[in-house]
Amino acid sequence: EKAGFEHFMMKEIHEQPKAVEDTIRSVVKDGTIDFSGVGMTEEDMRGIRQIYIVACGSAYHVGVAAQYVIEDMAKIPVRVELASEFRYRHPLLDPEGLVVVISQSGETADSLAALREAKSRGIKTLGIVNVVGSSIAREADNVFYTLAGPEIAVATTKAYSTQLIACYALAVQLAKVRGEIDDSQYAYYVAELETLPEKMQRIIGDKERIQWFAAKQAAAKDIFFIGRGIDYAISLEGSLKMKEISYIHSEAYAAGELKHGTISLIENGTLVIGVLTQQELYEKTVSNMVECKSRGAYLMGLTTYGNYNIEDTADFVVYVPKTDPHFATSLAVIPLQLMGYYVSVAKGLDVDKPRNLAKSVTVE
Ligand code: F6R
Repeated sequence: EKAGFEHFMMKEIHEQPKAVEDTIRSVVKDGTIDFSGVGMTEEDMRGIRQIYIVACGSAYHVGVAAQYVIEDMAKIPVRVELASEFRYRHPLLDPEGLVVVISQSGETADSLAALREAKSRGIKTLGIVNVVGSSIAREADNVFYTLAGPEIAVATTKAYSTQLIACYALAVQLAKVRGEIDDSQYAYYVAELETLPEKMQRIIGDKERIQWFAAKQAAAKDIFFIGRGIDYAISLEGSLKMKEISYIHSEAYAAGELKHGTISLIENGTLVIGVLTQQELYEKTVSNMVECKSRGAYLMGLTTYGNYNIEDTADFVVYVPKTDPHFATSLAVIPLQLMGYYVSVAKGLDVDKPRNLAKSVTVE
């Protein structure tokens, strides 16, 4: 059942290119994105004044990435919120808004409650859900089914990756329908989406290098992940993957926030992972990495091929293929999933069933 892999998590990491490809194929036909299966018309899309993305855990991290992508491409204001906060804060909702609930299981109690709250206020809802027929899928006005297939490992990988694709497709389609991008930009984004599975495959093919590095981190006490913009969203997910399965304390910080307190935690040898996929923010994050290094940090850089001068700063570098910067999360997250996995294995932990965690959180 693990198809020759030692753990479900590793099997599922390897299933990502296929899961992503299947999810892309479900909405992209002959170079055109088609949301009719989701049940959203172009008219619906033109009328949206505000988007609220609501989710928990890794699905929330997808929302953080999607917020940057949708606002930048489609020019619609997006607010992303933890479902457990959304449901109790009596949110002010634009009646012409769209509430997007992202959930692998479709059963997460807080996410379901958020969906019901939105519906009771008459706000349109879209579920991005993996499990067919789950509560969120049944109750949302429209559903985008991610085609990750069953996910067994508690730590999500392939479902997360397909949730990103759903959000990218939504962003590109909204941008087109609302006239924010022209036909050639649209064709470029769709074509770029279709290159992701092959690029993901290449990153997974390099896993031994991550394994070697991860094995050396098994005794780490704290790990920090830093990045700006979409690289911050990637950092959030990298940090969660690390802490949930390796039991190493880790934090993700928007790189510019470090010096507002957290940098005092950097000691000699503390691992700081700088995520640098966004070219316009590259120099800024590098300078934050240098600040950490001068306090004794040991630096890993995660960036795209071509940024070779990172080797002047970082002690260890992982390169991922280039893609459009909006879609960078899909590629950069993979080495971080592998890092969490291999640290957990090096520590001899129960990778697929980490302590205290359940696959589906049906209590609040
Ligand atoms: C982390 C993880 C969790 C889930 C969260 C939401 O690896 O799997 O953080 O992402 O519990 O679950 P769903 O997507 O089922 O609502």
